[in-house]
Amino acid sequence: MGTAAVLTGLGAHLPPRRVTNADLAERLDTSDEWIASRTGIRERRWADPGVSTGDLATEAGLRALKSAGLGDDARIDLVVLATTTPDHPCPATAPEVASRIGLVDAAAYDLAAVCSGFVYALEAASNAIRAGRAANALVIGAETYSTILDHTDRTTAVIFGDGAGAAVLRAGDDTEPGALTGFDLGSDGTRRDCITVPAGGSRQRAAGGEPAEADRYFQMRGKEVFTAAVAHMTASARAAAARAGWPLGTVAHVVGHQANLRILRAVGEQLGLDPGTVVSNLDRVGNTSAASIPLALADAAAAGRFAAGDRVLLTAFGGGFTWGAAALTWPDLAAVTTDERSPIR
Ligand code: COA
Repeated sequence: MGTAAVLTGLGAHLPPRRVTNADLAERLDTSDEWIASRTGIRERRWADPGVSTGDLATEAGLRALKSAGLGDDARIDLVVLATTTPDHPCPATAPEVASRIGLVDAAAYDLAAVCSGFVYALEAASNAIRAGRAANALVIGAETYSTILDHTDRTTAVIFGDGAGAAVLRAGDDTEPGALTGFDLGSDGTRRDCITVPAGGSRQRAAGGEPAEADRYFQMRGKEVFTAAVAHMTASARAAAARAGWPLGTVAHVVGHQANLRILRAVGEQLGLDPGTVVSNLDRVGNTSAASIPLALADAAAAGRFAAGDRVLLTAFGGGFTWGAAALTWPDLAAVTTDERSPIR
């Protein structure tokens, strides 16, 4: 027995504007057939003009606190917001979100690990709890990729969506349902150019001059990312399960970063798991980067797919490259609010 961070609340928020593959095919040289067969995505949500990552994060955070049974007077020691699309280059978005939620004096910071961000943030919050630095924490993954996409680039514009998901953790015991018991994290910065927004940071500003227009937006080398994602998500999931002492055959659900249905299926296969263990909601939300794992968890929980005590492996991969996985025993969670439930397969 030992101290562990325990999941006690989960919340999700999607902006209401639905963008279907057919909508995209009206203005890009693409089709519902191409997008659905290559990625599994059928629609995604994009925030309306004026709506920021912090707005979505605030909604998801409030829902997570409600799911944890915490009211307006909630006291939370730590807020970690994983995002690639912060409201501003400076300051971080997390302090503003914490204040809007009503969390006074909480430590609050942003964490940038692209699509692995939520797993990185879970690990950071879990470490703070295990070290006795925080009694509880709010971990949020929130993104508005619609603001960094090149909407004329069919290779990226069809893949990403906006959204936010959040989890409440508290100090508990590593034997109780909800415990996070094994983590694995890693990175490979030699592959940084595979997923990048080249301009807008100190590298480009220090070089001076005006950046090329395309460099202001998200760029990705999809094929290289695909292969690396399968390899690292699989290896990281194995490592996290081993740290938790879980034989892979005891894993009930794999909740991977929702990048591509073919990636998720390949990871399940390489882990030797039944296809039914692979959780996916990306047909309705696309790739929401740091928000994707909490959104998939919230959708699956709202659909009643998990039972308390089930072993759930989270595994993610993203720009950097970064990757990470976590072993989570499913808790007896109160109703999870998602504004529109996605059918889970
Ligand atoms: N509609 C129609 N055709 C498209 C298209 C679109 N939206 N996007 C690309 N194509 C075309 C390409 O131009 C290419 O045409 P060509 O053969 O004439 O050059 C063809 O389709 C095949 O492209 P390719 O990139 O080889 O396709 P793919 O099977 O690798 O699928 C991705 C592309 C992006 C879907 C896939 O690589 C992927 O999902 N990668 C992982 C991306 C990801 O999720 N990253 C997030 C961080 S983990």
